[in-house]
Amino acid sequence: MSQINIAIFGIGNVGSTLIKQIADYNKKSKTQNLNVFCIANSTLALFQENATEGWSANFESQAYPYSLDDVYAFAKKIRGQSRSKEFNDFNTDAEPPSPPRRGAGGEVFLAVDVTASPEFVENYIPLIENGFHIVTANKIANTLSFEFYQELRVALELNNKKFLYETNVGAGLPIIETIKNLHNSGEEIHKIRGVFSGSLSYLFNTFSVEEKSFSEILLEADALGLTEPDAREDLSGKDVARKLLILGREVGLTKEFTDVKVQSLVPKELNGQTTLPQFRESVKTLDAIFAENKSKLGADEVLRHVGELDLKTQKLEVKLVQESKTTALGQTQGADAVFEIYTESYGDQPLVIQGAGAGKAVTARGVLGDILKVAQSVN
Ligand SMILES: NC(=O)c1ccc[n+]([C@@H]2O[C@H](COP(=O)([O-])OP(=O)(O)OC[C@H]3O[C@@H](n4cnc5c(N)ncnc54)[C@H](OP(=O)(O)O)[C@@H]3O)[C@@H](O)[C@H]2O)c1
Repeated sequence: MSQINIAIFGIGNVGSTLIKQIADYNKKSKTQNLNVFCIANSTLALFQENATEGWSANFESQAYPYSLDDVYAFAKKIRGQSRSKEFNDFNTDAEPPSPPRRGAGGEVFLAVDVTASPEFVENYIPLIENGFHIVTANKIANTLSFEFYQELRVALELNNKKFLYETNVGAGLPIIETIKNLHNSGEEIHKIRGVFSGSLSYLFNTFSVEEKSFSEILLEADALGLTEPDAREDLSGKDVARKLLILGREVGLTKEFTDVKVQSLVPKELNGQTTLPQFRESVKTLDAIFAENKSKLGADEVLRHVGELDLKTQKLEVKLVQESKTTALGQTQGADAVFEIYTESYGDQPLVIQGAGAGKAVTARGVLGDILKVAQSVN
């Protein structure tokens, strides 16, 4: 049975769901073991091989303050065991085999970033240089300066390591891989348009068709756990801008975050120095603004918050638009994300990918999918 050794950083919504999914995967798989040997949050780590079963109680009782050196030291121990096992398995009378057989087990190491931490991203290059592939749900590394974006890819190339991040855009939906495949196969991509955010999708899908004020729907979305604790983070459009930048870089643009034109939906007077309680008290200020937007809609139109990447003009924009009910974007429901990809071969009828664009289960499944892709490429 082949083995992939995994260190998981982040045990929040996505991280803890991922650990459960890995435990279930291991029970079913007859050919491959995902050996989680490190489970960490921002301060503590549990080091134990095959740690997924009963990890939460073990974390409570056995996790301790750690640094990356502890991770490397534990990985070295696993490597050593694997090499001496291979040596015995082969019963050679010379040195242990070097390089090790592919898929032999102890040699493949992977770090999974399921934090939202800018600090943790500083560990990527050291991890890569210490033999780790990286899988991440964290968008930060792909949206820092283009200089860092390139530096990271040079480190990956030099160390022959993989870096997968499908869940950076559209959670579990196959957006990045689809766009990468089209781009790498020479297909000319003209435009990508989408409702990138589950929370903004819910807000405008509901507001466009129901006779309720915007603030009422915002409160409903909060109660359903769809918005960030501070809804201004959703309404600012910055998260959508990050996702748009990631897609733009995927198709070869060398843009920076500041190149994305973002229409914030937070009025100036509720931004800046306003505290969260003050924002909540004044949230009804939004009602008149969005009621006016709604009053301008034609009979066959709805409001949608979209991210748009035009490859011809090289413009990246996040904005509120009046959308025809007949398009894929105009027909979204609930909190779905939807992406329209216009290319040379698809012509005027875009390739459409739609579905839940957030949620811990679909995101963890997407991260697990990336882990298995790395495993497949190295075994
Ligand atoms: N939830 C979704 O639907 C979704 C969809 C797509 C992508 N994502 C992305 O997935 C990531 C995780 O989201 P989440 O909802 O699971 O977040 P979360 O519930 O807030 O959990 C974050 C975890 O990261 C840990 N952490 C923070 N800084 C760290 C550091 N420097 N080193 C190690 N661990 C650290 C936190 O530990 P402490 O408690 O010690 O701070 C916590 O365990 C985010 O980047 C998010 O954008 C989420």
